[in-house]
Amino acid sequence: MSFPEVRLRRLRQSPAVRQLVRETSLQPQQLVLPMFVREGLTDPAPIGSMSGVVQHSMDSLRAAAVEAAEAGVGGVMLFGVPAVRDARGSGADAPHGILNLATEALAAEVGDALVVQTDLCLDEFTDHGHCGVLAADGSVDNDATLERYTSMALAQARAGSQLLGLSGMMDGQVAAIRRALDAEGFTRTILMSYAAKYASAFYGPFREAVDSQLTGDRRTYQLDPGNRREGVREAVVDEQEGADIVMVKPAMAFLDVLREVRDTVHIPVWAYQVSGEYAMIEAAAANGWIGRRAAILESLLSIRRAGADAVLTYWATEAARWLRD
Ligand code: PBG
Repeated sequence: MSFPEVRLRRLRQSPAVRQLVRETSLQPQQLVLPMFVREGLTDPAPIGSMSGVVQHSMDSLRAAAVEAAEAGVGGVMLFGVPAVRDARGSGADAPHGILNLATEALAAEVGDALVVQTDLCLDEFTDHGHCGVLAADGSVDNDATLERYTSMALAQARAGSQLLGLSGMMDGQVAAIRRALDAEGFTRTILMSYAAKYASAFYGPFREAVDSQLTGDRRTYQLDPGNRREGVREAVVDEQEGADIVMVKPAMAFLDVLREVRDTVHIPVWAYQVSGEYAMIEAAAANGWIGRRAAILESLLSIRRAGADAVLTYWATEAARWLRD
């Protein structure tokens, strides 16, 4: 009898064999591109901490969305940066608020080719930078915020958003928004809930991307990074409330949560490869410390392997092109 008896290298001997036994796929339509549009811009403005990512003008937003569609990405997720902010985030549900106008434009431009999605949260629109409205004592008022969210949901649905990304981490947000949408006949609007959204240091560059006004932190509503069970529980509750899709965010530091959520709920699970994950790989690649393309594709494949059915990533268009070549 020859030794070793078990030869695992047999299935690694050539590209053809490796391709045949690969367990995880990565395809353009599994990628969603987050995009920032800023009110009043005539030219796109670079974001210093995220090389290659910009705050879009209306025109550059349209052009970039068409490029994404041509590359075959599955969707675009829109974030709005308003010119004026106030305590209740009035720009969020104003029909002519920047996010709603941009949604209308993209729904017309690429709404047939990919899924036009909108971030549903108040933090870009409030002058204090929190994801909700504040009570007299300065805390984030859960139930008063739900009223703002339902109004925002209706504005986004009217503007033509096909999928609402509920990223505010308020209790009861899925049920409240589902009820409000259905009452107005928006029964087809998809709800993707950020179920396990952690209070993470990896959102750093995003704060520049949306000119965040936040001082302090979001620890009274976002999850503690040490908690896995609680993240899974959030996903279960959101599924019961009627979420169509749940999200785990950030991605790479929370792959264990992603796997457990995937094994627990029966709806699609997405993951968000956030700004800090993007910036780390870009910075290391710019220094020649890692291979950029290989690292990007490995990071995306790993997020899929951990259980994500789709991934939000700032590399969506570029990665989609690589995958198609
Ligand atoms: C909040 C929101 C954040 C991100 C997306 N939506 C920031 C936060 O919670 O502080 C971060 C995305 C990223 O870092 O790429 N609405």
